[in-house]
Amino acid sequence: MEKRVLSGMRPSGKLHLGNFLGALSNWRNLQQEYHCFFFIADWHALTSDYADTSEIKNNILEMGIDWLACGLDPEKSTLFIQSRVPEHAELHLLLSMVTPLPWLERVPSYKEQRQEIKDKDLETYGFLGYPVLQAADIIIYKADFVPVGIDQVPHVEITREIARRFNNLYKKAVFPEPAVLLTEVPKLVGTDGRKMSKSYNNAIYLSDPPKVVAGKLKTMVTDPQRVRRTDPGNPEVCPVFSLHKVFSSNEERARIDPACRTAAIGCIDCKEILAKNLISWMNPIYENRGQLAEKPSAVLDIFESGSKKARQVASQTMAEAKEAMKID
Ligand code: TRP
Ligand code: SF4
Repeated sequence: MEKRVLSGMRPSGKLHLGNFLGALSNWRNLQQEYHCFFFIADWHALTSDYADTSEIKNNILEMGIDWLACGLDPEKSTLFIQSRVPEHAELHLLLSMVTPLPWLERVPSYKEQRQEIKDKDLETYGFLGYPVLQAADIIIYKADFVPVGIDQVPHVEITREIARRFNNLYKKAVFPEPAVLLTEVPKLVGTDGRKMSKSYNNAIYLSDPPKVVAGKLKTMVTDPQRVRRTDPGNPEVCPVFSLHKVFSSNEERARIDPACRTAAIGCIDCKEILAKNLISWMNPIYENRGQLAEKPSAVLDIFESGSKKARQVASQTMAEAKEAMKID
């Protein structure tokens, strides 16, 4: 049988270039080889944003548009919304019965986020249970592989432990243990030279029109030692050059590198070259996005029918789980 891949993303709204290179481009490729399930984890958004749910609906739509614009293909993959498949909640409940509390308390993200996030009260049952819900998401599709970044590895690890515990307790191998498909996330810098991130306000979004992209690059930080036009620069430490490494050709970079070091090229011109390359790289996604954004109901329909397909698989697994537990 074709191997199954599953991954999810919390609906954080519009996606930026870092999200694309860190996850979506990888997901798009996986579609060629596997039966993929990709879903928008709106219930997971509630674990930290339960007090203000006003953005979730719109964030789901914006993210759905980005997914489709980037080439996630509903003909190849099952694209769905977590809350449209209530079986995730049902399995989450059953798994919560068998998951020892200490397993959850030692998940690194639990400790870290409770300490780091001060503007929200995360002392909730739902937040502690985040990995149990994630385990349900994964094993309800009997996923073989879960493509995630390094930060999510402990969650897949606990998923394996929960699956194993369930199978042992009820003496039936209902749930296969999923494996991590580690996504090498190339570090993409934002306009301030730090890691590109929504919360740093330094991101270039897939939805940014060409003018906005050019404007963001214009004010992007460069080699801090290069103060005057006549100062030589060092591409090795320049955030603009690190974007050239991703979005410009080798030939172009081979020209810019020595020109920067000898002050033959100025930062304004260097950034204009990057803007031209980045904008043409982004153009197909941007165009797709524009068309999809005109028909939001068609986008939601795609996720609705994906959710129906997902539900068929999920309810089948639920039946097996309940039978094993003798509560069918
Ligand atoms: N926790 C993941 C994140 O924050 C999102 C997620 C929820 C997920 N359920 C999942 C990822 C299942 C992979 C598999 O990025
Ligand atoms: Fe950076 Fe380009 Fe300026 Fe050199 S010329 S410092 S690579 S922006």
